[in-house]
Amino acid sequence: MNTIKTPSKIILFGEHAVVDGYPAISMALDLKTTGEIEENFDTISIDLVDLNEIFEITPELIKNLEISNFSPALKYVICAVKSVIFYLSEFKNLKEIKPFKLKLYSEIPLSCGLGSSASVVVTVIRSISNFYGIELDNDETINLAYSVEKEVQGRASVTDTATISLGGMIEIINGKYKPMPKDLEEFIKTCKFLVVNVEERTRKTAELVHDVSKHPEKEQIFEEIGKIIQNVRQVTDKAELGKLMNENHELLKKFGISTEKLDLVAKAGQKYAYGGKLTGAGGGGSAIILLKEDREELLKELKKIGVIGIYECKMAN
Ligand code: MEV
Repeated sequence: MNTIKTPSKIILFGEHAVVDGYPAISMALDLKTTGEIEENFDTISIDLVDLNEIFEITPELIKNLEISNFSPALKYVICAVKSVIFYLSEFKNLKEIKPFKLKLYSEIPLSCGLGSSASVVVTVIRSISNFYGIELDNDETINLAYSVEKEVQGRASVTDTATISLGGMIEIINGKYKPMPKDLEEFIKTCKFLVVNVEERTRKTAELVHDVSKHPEKEQIFEEIGKIIQNVRQVTDKAELGKLMNENHELLKKFGISTEKLDLVAKAGQKYAYGGKLTGAGGGGSAIILLKEDREELLKELKKIGVIGIYECKMAN
């Protein structure tokens, strides 16, 4: 049996600005999806272990399978299976679609901006290409995963697929991704983050992106966020990094995409840790806090606020 592990992601700085061609910095997170793949007798079998959903089909029927009637999670997985098999057959000389059994497990909370779907899609792509003994490079994996996300959800973010495929820390600008300087990555590796799943998202990413695009001070705010990112490139100290997170949160608030609870959690991070901000599109979802060694007061405060889940995380390779 072959096992593949794929990280999740957070946007550290620059969400929304990145949609307009400004830079963003994102980081792979050590909450992971695991894929276990092995030969099967006569069918392609997919087992979403945590969701208790099993799907089975013969290899002959997978290529033309219509995904619209499946559950949200199976839509991503089946679309990824179809896409990678199509790609390997068309461009990588895969002759025979041997049956396999793929089990997927995930530690990543759903629908809160941590890239759970991109992580599952990348796991499926890598598990299947490995199973057939064909290596896909990072760009091929990122492009395939991006097209799956786009097909299933209508819009997709290269931030998610690139960060999750490459691991570590990357900068995204104008739809292109590049690694961050090694010394900055080494410093961020020493940081511990609390990822707080604050509340269910009440607004869709597309709607929030649209609202931001209409904001009268958009350019000015994005310029300010761009300056924060320039400062992040030089940062060597956790207190300074936390301060930049706080500043980014205040700028995002101006767009009206934060919520009362996201603000409370960010404030708790600002008061009881090095800093805090919302991460991702906003409208609910997640916040990140840069942790200090002592977390007692912070955890008490989060308990008082009442959040869905908290995860202590660090950068994943
Ligand atoms: C959503 O996770 C992040 C946004 O910047 C949208 C995107 O980058 O596609 C709001």
